[in-house]
Amino acid sequence: MKKPSVKEQVKTILHQQRGSYYSGQELAEQIGVSRTAVWKAINCLRQEGYEICGSTKIGYAMSLDTDLLEVDEICRQLPKQVQDFYQIKCFETIDSTNEEAKRQSKEFLGEGLCLVSMEQTAGKGRRGRTFYSPSHTGLYLSILLRPDMKVEEAVFITTAAAVAGAKACETVNPQCGKNSIGIKWVNDLYLNQKKICGILTEGALSLEAGKLEYAIMGIGFNLSPPKEGWPQEIESIAGSLFEKEYPSGTRNKLVSSFLMEFYEIYKQLPQVAYLEEYKRRQLAIGKDILIQEADGKTYKAHAYDVNEKCQLMVQYEGQTELQSLSTGEISIRLNN
Ligand code: BTN
Repeated sequence: MKKPSVKEQVKTILHQQRGSYYSGQELAEQIGVSRTAVWKAINCLRQEGYEICGSTKIGYAMSLDTDLLEVDEICRQLPKQVQDFYQIKCFETIDSTNEEAKRQSKEFLGEGLCLVSMEQTAGKGRRGRTFYSPSHTGLYLSILLRPDMKVEEAVFITTAAAVAGAKACETVNPQCGKNSIGIKWVNDLYLNQKKICGILTEGALSLEAGKLEYAIMGIGFNLSPPKEGWPQEIESIAGSLFEKEYPSGTRNKLVSSFLMEFYEIYKQLPQVAYLEEYKRRQLAIGKDILIQEADGKTYKAHAYDVNEKCQLMVQYEGQTELQSLSTGEISIRLNN
């Protein structure tokens, strides 16, 4: 395995003892390099946005709030059986965890590859949109799955992830309250009427088998508001799990909670044991909604229920029959 760079080693040491000061000499001795190399590494880390206090005189300490992703820490919080299902890889930055999972699907022939990043430079949303994925305030995760499923059943993966995501968010921030996270059919999580999380499931079809060759479930969480504010396009809908800064360790805890909840549900599919919870958290049921089709046409309707196929049961304005909507290219807007 490639030896970690001096910068990586300095970061690991300081992060393991956040808040404690290390002199340049101590770091240099521990890593086996010169003090100048340590000093350069510290400067690089600061440029990348890490809050490292101190100087050559008093030594260096990483801020207590620093919240890095660590595979060992995530695994430590998972039961053995769940640990064995996933192969977790963490990134500081990546174009898109979904795209990377797609690339890695060529070599990774099993399922459970889980890629987690602190930032995405080309995060993908539904319907060809981008997903705003800044560093420091979010968490972006994809899982490569190989379920024995027909394409139309892939919606179960998205809805399973929505329930798992909602439960994990409430575990990580108990202050938001039990059942406070709602799901907007089919793939968005809301807290206090703001979107805090989005899910994008992509797949490849095996034409011979007429089934999914693989599916990639990607989920992105807004943990806290970005320091520079939300981009204008999403300002009115975007929110975050925490109102301000989130406690250190949040990212690792959210990953492990989500992976555990998702595993429990995924292992039972195609049995949709989580359907009741999905419905209970459903924000659309009982509301007037606006249905938007891929070509931009919109229709008014009333949402009544979600059926066992996770389709939304609606009545279009002016009609008497109930219709079932599949996710595909349709999206809905809630009329509050
Ligand atoms: C949406 O709200 O439209 C769906 C957003 C899905 C974002 C996640 S973040 C992890 C994964 N990687 C991506 O590029 N997109 C998904």
